[in-house]
Amino acid sequence: MLQRPRRNRRTQAIRDLVHETSLSASDLIYPVFLHADGTDTAIEAMPGQTRWSPQGLLGAAERALEAGIRSIVLFPKIDDAKKDRVGTEASNDEGLIPETLRALKSRFPELTLITDVALDPYSSDGHDGIVSDDGVILNDETIEVLEAQSLAQARAGADIIAPSDMMDGRIGRIRATLDYEGFENVGLLSYTAKYASSFYGPFRGALDSAPKAGDKKTYQMDPRNRIEALRELLLDEAEGADMVMVKPAGPYLDIIREMRDATTLPVAAYQVSGEYLMIEAAAQSGWLDRRAVALESLTGIKRAGADMILTYYAVEAAGWLKESR
Ligand code: PBG
Repeated sequence: MLQRPRRNRRTQAIRDLVHETSLSASDLIYPVFLHADGTDTAIEAMPGQTRWSPQGLLGAAERALEAGIRSIVLFPKIDDAKKDRVGTEASNDEGLIPETLRALKSRFPELTLITDVALDPYSSDGHDGIVSDDGVILNDETIEVLEAQSLAQARAGADIIAPSDMMDGRIGRIRATLDYEGFENVGLLSYTAKYASSFYGPFRGALDSAPKAGDKKTYQMDPRNRIEALRELLLDEAEGADMVMVKPAGPYLDIIREMRDATTLPVAAYQVSGEYLMIEAAAQSGWLDRRAVALESLTGIKRAGADMILTYYAVEAAGWLKESR
């Protein structure tokens, strides 16, 4: 036999020589939840994850940095009393996110702070955009609020702003506003191909941000579509995105590959709450090896073409990667 592929698999050292995909802590972004409350609360809908108090979040950020995770993305749970139909609280300079950004920046200047732009945590309707009286998600009116939200985040020290709302044209408008206000060095990580997915369920439970009526299918993408992701990509490139994202990750590996092949921009993928929970549930039942499956899922997402991954396993995975070296 001339060809024996197994020769390249004979020892660990040889396998390490020929490996094609590497996963490292510098690829990982840690999504964290926070609330304006003095206690750190275990999130029932997402076992193993915590809704941090502002103080607790500083500790979590410190542990992340120690593990080698240098980027986090912040998701706030907002008190119902502060929600309204137009998400006014989203642009409050003294709101939970801006206050937290300032605290994190002064304590950990080396930590990359990524913020989510969308109205759902702030909207009494639980939608990413403003809902009209007849239930339509208003695109252009929403963008004005998103611009104000982005500015509040930039003023407070956000390094990268990540619009997850899926309104048309928001990347270009937010870019122009940031530049006009002197924030030309704040980056934009666009949720380019964000699908209307059922895998977000646990996240909405964690933030109490589920839509009160209807679903998100008029703005998030149809899971049946692949070519449309390329259309969104072309728009985001033209509008000035610095990085593009595919979300969810695991069930959309083909889209990650498609994007990687079609753009010169870095591609991010978001391993969402439902993907995390499937592994957690199977591991808790003793059906799967938690650590091995979590690392394999992340490796698969990188192999598909992701340059970086948002994952709830970020800090733990960084620890596992250190041990296995
Ligand atoms: C909303 C937002 C969602 C997630 C991140 N930002 C949920 C949604 O679109 O309903 C989901 C993340 C996850 O499931 O882990 N702007």
